[in-house]
Amino acid sequence: MMTKLLRGRLLSFKRAPLSVTDTDSYRYESDGGLLIEAGKIAAIGAYGDIRKKAAADAVEIDHRPYLIMPGFIDTHLHFPQMQVIASYAADLLEWLNTYTFPEECRFVESAHAEKIAAHFYDELARHGTTTAAAYCSVHKTSADAYFSEAMRRNMCMVGGKVMMDRNAPQGLLDTPEMGYDETRQVIADWHGKGRNHVAITPRFAITSTPQQMAAAQALAQEFPDLHIQTHLSENHDEIRFACELYPDAIDYTDIYARYGLLGPKSLFGHCIHLSEREADAMSEAGSVAVHCPTSNLFLGSGLFPLKALARREKPVRIGVATDIGGGSSYSMLRTMDEAYKIQQLLGERLNPLESYYYMTLGNAEALSLTESIGTLDEGTDADLVVLNAAATPAMALKMDVVKTLPEELFLLQTMGDDRAVAETYVAGEAAKSNLTFQSRQAAH
Ligand code: GUN
Ligand code: FE
Repeated sequence: MMTKLLRGRLLSFKRAPLSVTDTDSYRYESDGGLLIEAGKIAAIGAYGDIRKKAAADAVEIDHRPYLIMPGFIDTHLHFPQMQVIASYAADLLEWLNTYTFPEECRFVESAHAEKIAAHFYDELARHGTTTAAAYCSVHKTSADAYFSEAMRRNMCMVGGKVMMDRNAPQGLLDTPEMGYDETRQVIADWHGKGRNHVAITPRFAITSTPQQMAAAQALAQEFPDLHIQTHLSENHDEIRFACELYPDAIDYTDIYARYGLLGPKSLFGHCIHLSEREADAMSEAGSVAVHCPTSNLFLGSGLFPLKALARREKPVRIGVATDIGGGSSYSMLRTMDEAYKIQQLLGERLNPLESYYYMTLGNAEALSLTESIGTLDEGTDADLVVLNAAATPAMALKMDVVKTLPEELFLLQTMGDDRAVAETYVAGEAAKSNLTFQSRQAAH
C-alpha cells in the first residue's frame, strides 16, 4: 500500500462543542496535511510540516479548498430496507406490516442479499458514511452477505442478524433457539473478522417472546463486549402494544432492563417518548438513545427531545442515524438538517458544530469505537469524508457570502447531500470514486 499525503482544510472534534463559538472543541487546519500509511493516519498537521515528514515518493492528493473530516457514522439503519424507502402513507406498525416485513422476507435468498449488500455499501460511500450499525434480516444469509461485503471493502461495520419470533409473517420468524444458535454462528463466522462487529439484535419487544428475550439475555451474558441494538419508544401504538405483551414491566424501557439488555454497548433506536424514569434508567445504564430524524418525521412518530435529554442532570448518551428505510435519506447531512428542524419545533437550537460532532466523534463514542474511528488522530483508521460546500450552483452562490467555518458547515448541512461529498476514503483508499460498475451506471 502506498503512502498518501492529503492536502486540504482539516476539521475534527475533540469533544462535544458547548456553543457555536467553542473553538477549543475542535481542531482546524486551514492548510492541513494528512499522512496516510497502511490504511491509518500516520500524521496530521500544517501541510508544510507534514510534507517534510512524508517520504519523497508519497502520492500527494490536493483536496483544497474542500474540507477533510472523519468519515460520517450512521448508528441505526436497516440493510434489507433499501427498497422499502419511500413507502407511502403509513405509521410505524402499519408500515412494518404492509411494506417492511414482506420486503425483508426476500433476504432468505443469498443472491438477493448479496446484490443489495453491494448497493448498500455503494450508497454509504456515495454519501460519505464510512461506518454504520445496521440490522440485517432474520435470515443468517443476510448477515453473511452484509459482513462479507463489508470485509471485501475493508469497512468498519456493526451489524446483526435480527431475532424475531412473533407478530410477523411466517417467513420472517425464527424461534428462541434458532435466534440464539444463528446469532452465535454469526458471531463465530464474522465478529472480529476484518473490521466487523457483530451486534445482538432482537428487533423490538413486540416481535420477541419472553423466551426469545431470555435468549438475547443469555447471548449478552456470554458475549458482554458485543453491541446490542433494538428499538424503543418510537410510536404511541407501539409503546401500548409492547407494554400489553409484557404486563409485568413498569414501562417499555423496563422490558429490556428485565432481560439485562440495558448497558453501555446498547443502542436504542428512536427513544422519542421516554418518561423521566425511563430516561434516568437509560442514563444510569450508560445506554445510547439513537435519534433518527428523517424517519421520525416520515413515519409521523414524533419529535425527539435531543437537547433536553443531553442537558439532563442525568444525561442520556445520544447517537444520530438515518434509519433507512423508515428514514428517507442515506445522507447524514440531510439527517442533521432534519434534526435541526425538529429542535426548532421544540424551541431548541442545535448548533452546526454540534451536528458535525454527532456525525463523527459523537457517533464513534456512541459505538464505543473512538480508538479507531471518529477523529483524525494519528494511529486511527483513515476513514474520511471530503466535503465541497459549493457543490451546486445554489450552494456556490450562498458560499460567496459565507464568512465563518460554522456558517459553511451549516450551509453544507442545510443544502448538502451526496453531491457535496467530493470523496470518501475507507482505510485510506478512495471509495466513492471506485463504486461498483452496476451502481455507478445507475447514478447516470
Ligand atoms: N421497529 C421495529 N422494527 C422497525 C423498523 O424496521 N424500523 C423502524 N423505524 N422501527 C422499527
Ligand atoms: Fe429502525
